[in-house]
Amino acid sequence: MQKKLANGVIVIFGASGDLTARKLMPAIFSLYQQKDLSKSNIVLGVSRSEFDDESFRQKMQEALLEEHPKEKKAIDKFLSQVFYQQIDVYKDEGYVCLQKRLKALCKTHKLEHNFLFYLSTPPSLYYEIPQHIAKLGLNDEHDGYKRIIIEKPFGTDEQSAQALNAHLLQHYQESQLFRIDHYLGKETVQNLLVFRFANAIFEPLWNASHIENVQIYANEAIGLGSRAGYYDQNGAIRDMIQNHLLQLLGIVAMEPPAKMDAYSIRNETLKVFQSIRRFKSAEDIKENVVTGQYQEGCVQGVCKGGYRDEEGVAANSTTETYAAIRFFIDNWRWHDVPFYVRTGKRLNQRVSEVVINFKATPHPFFSQVQKITKFKNQLVIRIQPDEGIKLSFAAKEPGSGFKTHEVDMGFYYSDFAQKSMPTAYERLILDALQGDNTLFARNDAVEACWNIIDPIIQYVQKHGKSLLSFYPSGSFGPIEADKMLAELGHTWRNPSSVFKQKK
Ligand code: BG6
Repeated sequence: MQKKLANGVIVIFGASGDLTARKLMPAIFSLYQQKDLSKSNIVLGVSRSEFDDESFRQKMQEALLEEHPKEKKAIDKFLSQVFYQQIDVYKDEGYVCLQKRLKALCKTHKLEHNFLFYLSTPPSLYYEIPQHIAKLGLNDEHDGYKRIIIEKPFGTDEQSAQALNAHLLQHYQESQLFRIDHYLGKETVQNLLVFRFANAIFEPLWNASHIENVQIYANEAIGLGSRAGYYDQNGAIRDMIQNHLLQLLGIVAMEPPAKMDAYSIRNETLKVFQSIRRFKSAEDIKENVVTGQYQEGCVQGVCKGGYRDEEGVAANSTTETYAAIRFFIDNWRWHDVPFYVRTGKRLNQRVSEVVINFKATPHPFFSQVQKITKFKNQLVIRIQPDEGIKLSFAAKEPGSGFKTHEVDMGFYYSDFAQKSMPTAYERLILDALQGDNTLFARNDAVEACWNIIDPIIQYVQKHGKSLLSFYPSGSFGPIEADKMLAELGHTWRNPSSVFKQKK
C-alpha cells in the first residue's frame, strides 16, 4: 500500500547534467502530476554551473516541454517549486552554503528536514559529496530522514565497490543508501515477481527438470551517442551486464522470499549471485564469453560508421559494444541450465526480453505428421518495448490427421488502456522518498556481481583484441554468439519487432 509522503526536499547534485534534464525532472514532474508528490515536496538543483532559480527553471522548462508540449501551465506550476544552488562541490564553503539554503527553504515552505540527496554526478564525487554532507551533520536522522541515491557505476571492480561501500557505511546506515539500477524500476521487471510468486502454476515448472535454457537480453539499436569518454573506458560488460542484466537474472532465478519485503527479496537475489559459477580459467572464459564491436551498417534504414569512427574513440579501440555470456547457477534448482545473457549496441532493434525455453516432450508423439519433431514451449517476458508476456504451445490444425502449429497466448500491457506505464525513475524516486529500498541494490549484492564479472573483465582487457568479434550495425550481433549456443543445441530468440499480434 502506498504510504503518505512526508514533506521535504529532493536535492539533485549534478543538476546541470543530461540525466537531470532527460530523466529525473520528467520523473519528478510526472509524480507531481499524479499528486504522488504533494505540494510540500520541493526540488533543489545543485551543481557548479552558473544558474540562479530562474535560469535553472528555464532550462528545465525547455526539457519538460519537449516531452509535454501542451502542458506549459502545469510545468510552470511545478517549476515554481524547483530551486537552484550553485556550489563548488570540492570545497567546504559550498556545503555550508547548501546547508544554509536548505534551512531557509525549509523555513519558508514549512518543511521537515527530510532530505533525499540524488547523486547524478561523475562517480569520482561519490566519495566527496556524502562525506561533506555528513561532516555538516546532514546524515543525522534525528530531525527527519536523510537518504542518498547513488547512480551507477558503483565502483569499477569488486575492490573499488568494497572500498566505496566501506566509505559510505562509515557515515550512513545501509537503510539510508539507495544504489539505483533503473532496470529494477521497470514495471515489467517488477511484474516478474508477481508472475512468479502470485501464480501457483508456473513455479513447479521453474527449474532444471523442465527448463532447457534461459535467455536474458537487452539489445539496443542506438550506438555510443556522445558518451565516448565514459563508454570507451567501460564497455558493454561493465555498462549493462554487471548491473542491469545480473539483477534481472537474480529475479528470474531466485527462490521464493520469506516475505515480499526488501530484506527478504534482496537476500534471495544475493544467494543467486553467490551461486553463479565463477569462471576459473582463461579456457572457461573463452568458452563462455563472446564480445563484439559494431562496424558500419544500417539500423532501421539509418546508415552510420562503426564504433571506431565515433567521436572520441581511438581508431584501434578494443572496447566491446556487445557481450554474450553463458552462466550456470550451481544450486539444486538450476543445475546445468545455461543462462545466456547478452547485450549490444547498434543491433537490429531495441528489445529487452527474458526468455524461458522449456524442454521438449520426452517422446515426439506427432513426429510423423509435424515438421517440428520436438516442439518446445517458450515463455517470453517482454521487458521493453511493447511490454507483455507470451507463452507458445502446439495446437492442432483443424481437419484430418495431426498437423500441428505453434500458437501463443499472451498478456499485453497495452490492454491496460487506462493506465500509462510509469518510468523506472518515477517508481524509484518515489520508493526512495518512501524509504523502500526493495528495488535498489544492496552493498553485498553489488560486490557479488563484481566478483562474478571481474575475471571476465580482466581477461577481456588483456586479450580484448583476440577475443573481439565484429558485427555489422543493424545485425543480430556476431555469429560467434550463435555458435556458442549451438554447441549445446540452443538458438537465440531473435524477436520480431512486433510483440503483440494485431487482431
Ligand atoms: C544505461 C547504460 O545504464 O542503460 C546505457 O549506461 C544504456 O548504455 C541504458 O543505453 C539502457 O537503458 P534502457 O532503459 O534504455 O534499456
